[in-house]
Amino acid sequence: MYRFYCRFYQFIMRIAARFIPFQEPEIIEGSGRLSQVVPYLKNQNLNRLLIVTDQGMIATHLLEPLLQQLHTERIDYFLFDQTTPNPTIDTIEDALGLYHSKRCEALLAFGGGSPIDCAKAIAARVANQQKTLPQMKGLFKVGKSGIPPFIAIPTTAGTGSEATLAAVITNATTSEKYALMDPALTPKLAVLDPLLTVGLPKPLTAATGMDALTHVIEAYIGKSTTRTTRSLCLESIQLIFRYLHCAYQDGSDLEARAGMQKAAYLAGKAFSRSYVGNIHAVAHTLGGYYGTPHGIANAIILPSILREYGSTIIKPLSELADAAGITERSMNQREKAQRLIEAIEKLNKDMQIPSKTKVLEKDIQAMAKRAYSEANPLYPVPVIFSKKQFQDIYYRIKA
Ligand SMILES: NC(=O)c1ccc[n+]([C@@H]2O[C@H](COP(=O)([O-])OP(=O)(O)OC[C@H]3O[C@@H](n4cnc5c(N)ncnc54)[C@H](O)[C@@H]3O)[C@@H](O)[C@H]2O)c1
Ligand SMILES: [Fe+2]
Repeated sequence: MYRFYCRFYQFIMRIAARFIPFQEPEIIEGSGRLSQVVPYLKNQNLNRLLIVTDQGMIATHLLEPLLQQLHTERIDYFLFDQTTPNPTIDTIEDALGLYHSKRCEALLAFGGGSPIDCAKAIAARVANQQKTLPQMKGLFKVGKSGIPPFIAIPTTAGTGSEATLAAVITNATTSEKYALMDPALTPKLAVLDPLLTVGLPKPLTAATGMDALTHVIEAYIGKSTTRTTRSLCLESIQLIFRYLHCAYQDGSDLEARAGMQKAAYLAGKAFSRSYVGNIHAVAHTLGGYYGTPHGIANAIILPSILREYGSTIIKPLSELADAAGITERSMNQREKAQRLIEAIEKLNKDMQIPSKTKVLEKDIQAMAKRAYSEANPLYPVPVIFSKKQFQDIYYRIKA
């Protein structure tokens, strides 16, 4: 009965989606194009900026040319560099305090998904001073009125947050990780400069690349695709299979870095409209409970859940496998789908991603319940898992 309700809910959401004003960021793209941000700010007459980043980014010195340029052009900026991976509500509230006390008028996120999502959540709070972040959990609780101008400059190639309507945040007290989803949270401008990802260490290249791959697969095998999102997914997986391992092997390969940046962006656009699924629902619990890096969690869960879906996803998986360029003419759909799962496992292995991760027996029941509630009724997953099926997944990936 509940499954029927979920499918009905997803059907209504599919119809409603036609009337939702999905947003797309303006893009500045190409090596060295970071230098175009300050002219953009001047053009928009934005003069007081909160820059949201993290300590890891400060250590890379990648931000310095931008700060120098801001200084030269006399644009006031204030730095919030305390974003934590899997950004927490407390961190976001601290940053919000700085935004208000410095009377900022725009936000610029510089870093991976964590600073970008932190900045999105700040924007949500700036626009909704009477609402708490937990009150904005879920769909369409933010609203576009009062959202400050927001620029996203990704330095990882994975989350696609620079293109999405989602901000994923963590409540450190309850270990709950969840998303605020509203078209108003889509950045105004996204800057895709591959030079910013050249120094991304191998483990981060691997993890974030697998996050992008999970977005593509979950968006494509779900039941709310559109012609546009299907074509975004096929283009993205082609780029991922062409460039992820190259970017991992040789971080200075600019073509591969640019390819992965584009792939992550396209995947972000696709899942903004077509959602993620059970894999992300489980990954978010691992992030919330153990701080497992998001991309690693996805990479480990991906093969298990695809196998659990079994024959229900053979056709879409075979199409993805074709686009990835890993199939042969003589293969049937089942063989192609199988080839894709094996290729994912090989990619994980080649990039030193383990096949198991930390899961404590005592947490499994509660995590399964949370994953079940995150996935249902919202995500148009190929198979609606029972709580027992979720529990089995945790046992399968338990180190
Ligand atoms: N909003 C969305 O649509 C969306 C989608 C997927 C994931 N997410 C969220 O994004 C977060 C993960 O983001 P992430 O995977 O990009 O990692 P991250 O932002 O947490 O960064 C991880 C580490 O990488 C470092 N780093 C980033 N860029 C670097 C560079 N160029 N060189 C060296 N070090 C660098 C950072 O300093 C940090 O220490 C999670 O919270 C996840 O849930 C959001
Ligand atoms: Fe993700």
